[in-house]
Amino acid sequence: MEYRLGPTLLSAAEIRARVREMAQAISRDYAGRDLLLICVLKGAAIFWADLCRALQVPCQSDFVAIESYGEATTPLGKPRFTKAADVSLVERDVLIVEDIIDTGHTILRLRSLLQAQSPRSVALCALLDKAERREVETPIEYAGFVIPDAFVVGYGLDYAQQYRHLPHIAILEPLRATHE
Ligand code: IMP
Ligand code: MG
Repeated sequence: MEYRLGPTLLSAAEIRARVREMAQAISRDYAGRDLLLICVLKGAAIFWADLCRALQVPCQSDFVAIESYGEATTPLGKPRFTKAADVSLVERDVLIVEDIIDTGHTILRLRSLLQAQSPRSVALCALLDKAERREVETPIEYAGFVIPDAFVVGYGLDYAQQYRHLPHIAILEPLRATHE
């Protein structure tokens, strides 16, 4: 199936305003703590870059990547980092920075992997929440936007590594044949 870029779901201005609000809430909550942002590659990179520059508290950042298991029919094995954090998480206040929470399986695995490294706390900051697609419960301490069940791209999110550079978030549409 071929796809094309569809309508804008969130404009660059809407994203900018919401990211600023999220950064304010995080700055309030993490004042005087030992904040370590864990950016989940690759999708969250652009969100992380804007979010961390809007924070008003000291923080460190590191990057992780985790194996994705693909379809729901795949048996869930032991989760594994394809890139682990370089810094120690022991006694740190870890804030996971994610692009989107869909079924919730990825974040559940990631939380357990990070929790195993003895941080003082672990919380989640996700730009997008596809709430109606959730299969496993997961708290989202800082959620940007609840969005409908559509495949979205832009602002870091990709389809086949394309569209990450878009300043807005758009819906990806299937391209149908005109003669049916
Ligand atoms: P989950 O494990 O189902 O919550 O999937 C989360 C991951 O799926 C995200 O980190 C994204 O990499 C990917 N994903 C889910 N929905 C979308 C989307 O609409 N656009 C781009 N990537 C998505
Ligand atoms: Mg992701």
